[in-house]
Amino acid sequence: MLIYRKYFKNKKIIITGHTGFKGSWLTLCLSLLGAKILGISKNYPTTPCHFEDLKFGKKIKHKKLDITNLKKLKKIFKIYQPDYVFHLAAQAIVSKSYDDPITTFNSNTIGTLNVLESLRSTKKCRAVIITSDKSYKNLEIDRGYFENDQLGGNDPYSGSKGAAELIINSYTKSFFKNKKITLAIARAGNVIGGGDWSQDRIIPDCFRSWSKKRKINIRSPKSTRPWQHVLDVVRGYLVLAIKLKDLKLNNEAFNFGPKNNQNKNVLELVKEIKLNWKKAKWIINKKSRLKNKESNLLRLNSNKAKKYLNWSPILDFKESVNFTTNWYINYFERGKKFTRSISENNIVRYNNILKKRLRF
Ligand SMILES: NC(=O)c1ccc[n+]([C@@H]2O[C@H](COP(=O)([O-])OP(=O)(O)OC[C@H]3O[C@@H](n4cnc5c(N)ncnc54)[C@H](O)[C@@H]3O)[C@@H](O)[C@H]2O)c1
Repeated sequence: MLIYRKYFKNKKIIITGHTGFKGSWLTLCLSLLGAKILGISKNYPTTPCHFEDLKFGKKIKHKKLDITNLKKLKKIFKIYQPDYVFHLAAQAIVSKSYDDPITTFNSNTIGTLNVLESLRSTKKCRAVIITSDKSYKNLEIDRGYFENDQLGGNDPYSGSKGAAELIINSYTKSFFKNKKITLAIARAGNVIGGGDWSQDRIIPDCFRSWSKKRKINIRSPKSTRPWQHVLDVVRGYLVLAIKLKDLKLNNEAFNFGPKNNQNKNVLELVKEIKLNWKKAKWIINKKSRLKNKESNLLRLNSNKAKKYLNWSPILDFKESVNFTTNWYINYFERGKKFTRSISENNIVRYNNILKKRLRF
């Protein structure tokens, strides 16, 4: 990760959704790389909140703003003139999208439209727009989805991300023809890692319950997901931003998923965590309100990222789970005031593996 310093040092970067799970890791990595970061988020989405516990203080600029407010968003872009934009802000929880579809579509679809419109007030910029593996119309097929597969989405979250992609394509074709503003779409799978405190996600649900010696309710034990570590995904976003200087990549979408033999189901994930968290216990919840509302099988084919970005995950399933479990064990043993050192240690450890496996 730290090898990307020369690309981002002193660069002006806007990150939307910087207070979220992935945003906080991206912000930490880019700040270690010496970037000048301006983060835009509407709130601290969880309690606790990884971003808050990292205690950036004045090291980054922090704007509290709802991206549905186009006027204010555009003004920030116009004044700041970022070199790079990473757009992550979204209502990112599938279960919440059923409870509040309007906020979900407003944030994810109209919010993305506003980010694109704001990009028009920059003179020169590269943007990575984060959508989701759930942008694809899910056909429960065994092969991984390719980037040119049909988009869709039955639940409001997936629909809002698929709709955002149509807008992105239209904006690139209509307004970003002079190539001063280039962008690409990143579709990652189910991201795991320390510092995720969201509701209705398996990893935070597990550690929240187990830290209180409670059993976890598993709603879809047989559902297969492309689990991958947040640092592999963040590295994918950084590489994509760097490679966007190649104009051929403008308006292209990239999947960032685990290798095909690494797709595991929820039960396998929980059993893997138990290897390190010995007292882990669970029951299968047969009456979950989300039963039949989530896809059973979701796989991504990431050959395109390998071919054009030279990206593939360096951590396999076991290592990703081990990194994640370790983070939470450390957090509960040492306490939240050690969050920054725990997370930075994760990055150092990841970086050492990266150096060996990519043979720098
Ligand atoms: N975590 C995953 O497994 C996963 C998988 C695929 C795609 N994604 C996508 O990656 C991105 C980040 O996901 P995450 O897990 O970090 O999400 P998160 O829920 O942890 O964080 C969401 C962030 O967006 C901000 N936000 C939400 N609505 C906003 C609005 N209207 N205006 C301004 N800020 C707003 C929140 O304040 C927060 O900073 C999202 O776009 C999500 O859809 C996540």
